[in-house]
Amino acid sequence: MPPACVRRAIVSVSMDLRDAAFDLLKQNRRETGTGFTYTVPSPETYPYQWLWDSCFHAIMLAKFDPKAAISELKALLSRQLPDGMVPHIMFWNTKLTRPYNWGWGKSGVTSITQPPMVAYAVQRIYQQTHDAKFLEEILPPLFSFYQYLVDRRDPHDHHLISLINPDESGEDNSPRFDGPMHVGTDISFFGHMYERHKLVRANAVCSFDEEECMRKNFWVKDVPFNTILVKNLEILAKLAVLVGDKKVENYARWHGTLIAEAMREYMLEDGVFWSVEGERHERLKVPTWAHFMPLFAGLYTKDEAKNLVETHFHDHDSFRSSYGIRTVSKIDPSYRPSGFWRGPIWFVPHWFIYHGLRAYGFEEEALWLRTVSQRLIENNGFREYFNPETGKAYGAHHFTWGTLIVDMLDS
Ligand code: GLC
Repeated sequence: MPPACVRRAIVSVSMDLRDAAFDLLKQNRRETGTGFTYTVPSPETYPYQWLWDSCFHAIMLAKFDPKAAISELKALLSRQLPDGMVPHIMFWNTKLTRPYNWGWGKSGVTSITQPPMVAYAVQRIYQQTHDAKFLEEILPPLFSFYQYLVDRRDPHDHHLISLINPDESGEDNSPRFDGPMHVGTDISFFGHMYERHKLVRANAVCSFDEEECMRKNFWVKDVPFNTILVKNLEILAKLAVLVGDKKVENYARWHGTLIAEAMREYMLEDGVFWSVEGERHERLKVPTWAHFMPLFAGLYTKDEAKNLVETHFHDHDSFRSSYGIRTVSKIDPSYRPSGFWRGPIWFVPHWFIYHGLRAYGFEEEALWLRTVSQRLIENNGFREYFNPETGKAYGAHHFTWGTLIVDMLDS
């Protein structure tokens, strides 16, 4: 705990930051045209609604405008597909051109999903509002999304949920996917994008039938996605208790436990979790920040977590830089300090790691992460990602992910 004078300084700086964050979330708010509002991650670069971004927006909006938070999630779930899948992008403003063909069908939304942080966001809203009506209304679509993931993304009952495209991880060109994408470590940003377009086209040939797409084109069981699922199923069970829905409660608890056990069985090696590929669960041995992610769902034992923090979090030659945690270890040949998801610091990983560290009682490390995160925003404004070697900011402006600093300061 810092001394009182330092704490007072943090509070006053954080007041400005809080106002700036809430202003940004207001400025980026849009109307769906169907009675809801949503938030664009960046007006210039990302002018649509994204699944996991919306969950982070709702977490933040719950703090100062819970009605807007509810509307954001209702907008999201209003575009849910009949099989329960929630698409990764919702295109509300039809005047804007769509970036590229994500394989939309009749519904006009994308045919892939993104990390399922929705239950977590609902819980945050409920904690602020105690709005039981909202909870009752949202539980059925929420449940059907998680049921879709468990049923359709795990065709062989291995209890690990699969991605059919790297973009479903939210870490579009992460080198974790280089092997399954059959690309080299030197691939450029646009070269990678070209390969992902090709994958979308190949999956369109399979009509986005999950099992066939996995078998033929791309089949990865990713550590962050499955961690998020475990945590969100745990929360879904708690929400179901509040609503008195035994069926959802039991389902969520049972599958959450199965996935957590399978993650330990197939993904844990040398003290860290690795994403795996295909039916045989071949480990994708690329050291990324995903090693820290299981802290968020309590998947490491206390001793394993201690070892992880000592060996990896504190390693300046690997993950730790003066500006934060690298998304890819510096020792990996794919590491590029300005390469989008191939090394730079991003806010969402920082936020997950922060909460994971707090949950295990690593207060000093969490405080350090929060301090460097705050500094990045104060020095650069709300930018998309940052060079771990120089602190230079890149990518989108007015990007909402940096607003999560307020949640780090609050928790
Ligand atoms: C980038 C990120 C993705 C995010 C999207 C909108 O594509 O990689 O995670 O959802 O931008 O912010």
